[in-house]
Amino acid sequence: MSHCTVLITGGAGFIGSHLVRRFVRRYPDYKILNLDCLTYAGNLANLADIETAPNYRFIKGDVSDADFIGKLFKEQAIDAVIHLAAESHVDRSILGPMAFFETNIVGTGVLLQSARKAWEGQLENKRFYHVSTDEVYGSLGETGLFTEKTPYDPRSPYSASKASSDHIVRAYYHTYGMPVVITNCSNNYGSHQFPEKLLPLFIRNIKHKRPLPVYGDGNYTRDWLWVEDHARAIDVVFHRGVNGETYNIGGHNEWKNIDLIKMLCSIMDRKLDRAENASAQLITYVKDRPGHDKRYAIDASKIQRELGWKPSVTFEEGLEVTIDWYLKNEAWLENVTSGSYQRYYDEQYKERNAAKN
Ligand code: NAD
Ligand code: TYD
Repeated sequence: MSHCTVLITGGAGFIGSHLVRRFVRRYPDYKILNLDCLTYAGNLANLADIETAPNYRFIKGDVSDADFIGKLFKEQAIDAVIHLAAESHVDRSILGPMAFFETNIVGTGVLLQSARKAWEGQLENKRFYHVSTDEVYGSLGETGLFTEKTPYDPRSPYSASKASSDHIVRAYYHTYGMPVVITNCSNNYGSHQFPEKLLPLFIRNIKHKRPLPVYGDGNYTRDWLWVEDHARAIDVVFHRGVNGETYNIGGHNEWKNIDLIKMLCSIMDRKLDRAENASAQLITYVKDRPGHDKRYAIDASKIQRELGWKPSVTFEEGLEVTIDWYLKNEAWLENVTSGSYQRYYDEQYKERNAAKN
């Protein structure tokens, strides 16, 4: 795929910004279009280091705006789409699910339909890559792993909207022969993640000695993957994945929330020169998330076997780098947490604390 034009949606967000940076730097012959409407989670400061690169262009727009997206496909000779734009936080989907249906379901349909029209009769060397989540598979018990064949069983408005979008993408493959590929990835961690998700939120609260709100008993399990390893996996699947296939991506790295939080506290005590166990005192058990999925764990053997991808760093290495980034980039954190973030935080956590007491 030399000299191709790649439309990356959601490129100003957490994973998207890592992916855009990787593609802009690694593929100088590609034209990278970053389409993002800049919700609270989108931040162009995430891409300040590449914004003037000659092979990069930012386009502000909404994936669910059919007129705008249709026009974009007419104006730009887009060869491939890597679709990450989404509402992505489970707790927000519980507070207000409609935005999730609009962006994640309608937005994916609009992109597919516009690409189908633009690519009619010339599907060769085209690709529609849909970035999805392991949460579509539902919740595991103590044992077992999600494989690509695990039946879908989404349980939050977020995961249901992502599952819907996966189904629509597959329908376009079967019905119209669209050259699609889907990946379902586990929880990402790394720099530039909006501090509503567990790790950046807890890093920030530990730094400011604020309570650490652990949902329920804290015995929920997630599989954590370094975001740059996810971006590398997307690169591999984009270039070598087979049309119509799904690949699960994971870190072989399961942690119970409470164990992860205790480890985070002790690393941060060391980095911040605090007494042993100082930050763990901030742990506060709060009301559980409704419909909280017990355990996610990924079998990522297909992508390793067929495409040779596996995680490149251990969790300990990735976590050290990640914590250092948030401690060094105080201005980034304070910038994204001004204004509406505070209103979200108050609504989300005051209600949880009140219900617990
Ligand atoms: P994020 O919330 O950090 O970023 C989402 C980006 O999409 C933001 O820049 C936002 O402005 C943009 N966006 C939202 N609605 C839009 C719209 N209507 N039109 C255009 N742009 C819009 O999310 P993330 O964590 O980077 O996740 C990216 C993708 O990866 C999502 O599709 C998510 O479902 C998937 N995913 C995330 C994880 C994870 O752990 N974060 C794991 C697996 C899969
Ligand atoms: P999160 O980062 O929201 O990702 P997801 O829900 O998509 O897995 O949450 C990770 C885990 O941490 C999940 O089990 C919920 C839990 N959690 C808390 O205990 N407290 C918090 O304040 C947050 C945001 C999450």
